Amino acid sequence: MKRLQGYPDPGDGLRLHLNENTGGCSPRVLDAIQRMRTTDVSTYPSYSELVRACARQFEVDPEWILLTNGLDEGILMAAMGHISGARIHDAETIIPLPAFDPYPNSTAAVGATAVKIPSGPEFVFPTDAVIAAVTPRTRMIFLNTPSNPTGRLIPIADLQRIAEAAPRVVVLIDEAYIEFGGTSFLPKLAAYPNVLVGRTFSKAYGLAGMRVGVLIGQPQALDPVRAVTLPFNINAVAMAATLAALDDREFLPRYAAQVAESRERLYAACRRLGLAYWESAANFVMVRVGDPVAPVIDALARRGVHVRDRSHDPATPGCVRVTAGLLTHTDAAIEALESALSGRVTR
Ligand SMILES: Cc1ncc(COP(=O)(O)O)c(C=O)c1O
Repeated sequence: MKRLQGYPDPGDGLRLHLNENTGGCSPRVLDAIQRMRTTDVSTYPSYSELVRACARQFEVDPEWILLTNGLDEGILMAAMGHISGARIHDAETIIPLPAFDPYPNSTAAVGATAVKIPSGPEFVFPTDAVIAAVTPRTRMIFLNTPSNPTGRLIPIADLQRIAEAAPRVVVLIDEAYIEFGGTSFLPKLAAYPNVLVGRTFSKAYGLAGMRVGVLIGQPQALDPVRAVTLPFNINAVAMAATLAALDDREFLPRYAAQVAESRERLYAACRRLGLAYWESAANFVMVRVGDPVAPVIDALARRGVHVRDRSHDPATPGCVRVTAGLLTHTDAAIEALESALSGRVTR
């Protein structure tokens, strides 16, 4: 069937292909949606309550917060604000590989050129090569920690070195998965007027269907993005949902603890099966099943488990990415992987 919009729906089974929260959102979110009044729907939303709640959560000034329709929109708007909005025609962005698709896509959307930097062996982050790639044309650097798809962290000192080496460049630090491991750059942000930190409610908070993300930064980096962002980009239901999610303080640590244990179980399964994997600070693990990957993906799908094929990306040949969520789901995924690979010679 022709692909219409978004990602194809894999149908029934365990969705371990998009790094979602496999257990769903906090029940408080649905309660809050049910409590909405008819006028909450008939009027344009007012964002100040959620902006203030995010400012408290991230411990920054409310003026440093810009709500976006998912962090995806934040990435595009950052490129629009700093490149097309500024009428820069020969702009370059720097994108370390492997990369989350919206970085090159947003670069292309604003007519800029992506300068792609390969990572080192075992996906060691190429800090020196990123710094060496900065030219007078560089307008943005996209950094992702923990990285999708490898799960590897960029050390805070390396983030600082890059931001300091390119003070006139906007450095977008995408922390979509930071709640699952690693240290946020946010406490350092006051010293870096050229940095934007991206966060999302899609992953740890389980609100992917609501589409809410946040860009956090000082006015120098954030105001040009604010200037091109449409005034009512978050809908009222998503806003009520996010406020309720932020209010449930127990939800996130409980889920993150299961994710950590799920990762360990996936590592152990990979060792038993003789598969290479990379230790991850996120809610997924990248595993090398070897080329061709499609038969493994299909065998898993027949067993009701959907994982992400990463083999189309030259930076991650022979690899799949498996979401680590609820332990029961991880155990089911491991069983399916063991049965799909039984009798297969692995490399
Ligand atoms: C690295 C990274 N950044 C940003 C996002 C976007 O998240 P959302 O648009 O759902 O907030 C994702 C989602 O998969 C991601 O993997």
